[in-house]
Amino acid sequence: MKYAFDACIERRGTGSTKWDNLGMRVSNTHALPMWVADSDFACPEPVVKAVQDRAAHPIYGYAFVPRRFGEVTAGWMRRRHGWEADPEWVIFSPGVVPALSMAVLAFTEPGDEVIIQRPVYHPFTNVVKENGRLVSSNSLKLEDGRYEIDFEDLEKRAASPRAKLMFLCSPHNPTGRVFSEEELLRIGDICEKYGVLLVSDEIHGDIIFGGRRHVPAGSLDRPWAAKTITCVSPSKTFNIAGLEAAAVIVRDEAVRGALRAKLQAMHIDVPNAFAMAGYCAAYTECEDYLEQELAYLRGNIRFVADTFRQSMPKLHLVEPEGTYLLWIDCREMGLTAKETEDFFVEEAAVAINPGNLFGEEGAGFVRLNIACPMDTVKKAMAQIQTAYNRKEVTQ
Ligand SMILES: Cc1ncc(COP(=O)(O)O)c(C=O)c1O
Repeated sequence: MKYAFDACIERRGTGSTKWDNLGMRVSNTHALPMWVADSDFACPEPVVKAVQDRAAHPIYGYAFVPRRFGEVTAGWMRRRHGWEADPEWVIFSPGVVPALSMAVLAFTEPGDEVIIQRPVYHPFTNVVKENGRLVSSNSLKLEDGRYEIDFEDLEKRAASPRAKLMFLCSPHNPTGRVFSEEELLRIGDICEKYGVLLVSDEIHGDIIFGGRRHVPAGSLDRPWAAKTITCVSPSKTFNIAGLEAAAVIVRDEAVRGALRAKLQAMHIDVPNAFAMAGYCAAYTECEDYLEQELAYLRGNIRFVADTFRQSMPKLHLVEPEGTYLLWIDCREMGLTAKETEDFFVEEAAVAINPGNLFGEEGAGFVRLNIACPMDTVKKAMAQIQTAYNRKEVTQ
């Protein structure tokens, strides 16, 4: 069927963090919300129907994880990413972030180091610190407009006796980087050499542009890939984050068992009454939605890229290879990190995420979520343009 990604749907009053809880992080509550990573697109019709059908039954008692959960996840990985995953390898988690947290508890001790690649999705840092572990940042380096991995630094960090885990963000939020098979092999080989377990967060793995391919880390033909913890979810792709369902795929029985034991110990191994209905519909009936969404997102990205290039030459879009989160280099504006944030949130009234939220490596950048109707993108860009012109005149 044809989906209407152009439809502007009122989300205020639905308990949405992005729209109703803006004041939590953003000083200007009238700003256009382009921050939290969910989309303003209606979910695919089969998902809505599955959840509505479930909701129509008046008893919302305890649910469980059916065998079908592993099967539909494996089916999606096979069809979209060419990975012949066994349904037995798949375990349920109420989210990817809880799975990361459980991995920290299962495979590290307080005081151990977890390698991450900043600037990166901020819960990576929080999950490590809040569990009393230490962050070791193998920071990505921006070289000629593209983020690159510093492999020498990665090897040094992995060699630390306290380094036990690496959180990979693949594709990488917020830089939009999609890692090649060769890069993933190098990362995994280094981790294996020093006994560092790899956890690959692939929640954005379906949103890939420019003829690139997402390679699931756990699918690679290496002994370490069997132990790799690959986290996936239809939540970003189909806008169902609020249903709270994710999958963790691990080939190795011992690693999988240790992770499952932690999920059980925390009593978070059971889905809510609506999660399985939405999740299974998303992974089985909605590929046409994804194809149309990708085309639509490409249009939004092109519009933003062209507008910056043509009329705001001091703002540089880092070309997104994946994800619907745009990473904008604002350093040429000559503003401090706080002034950059104020420029967008206060002066342009566009709620972005400030780059330093993702680590100090992100200072001078902002993250802009363009998973919304093009009208919203156009409105945001017009507001940014007005603020930009005003700044140019007064400077
Ligand atoms: C890289 C990454 N991982 C995980 C999440 C959130 O995952 P969940 O809601 O399943 O915990 C997000 C959401 O923005 C994300 O960008």
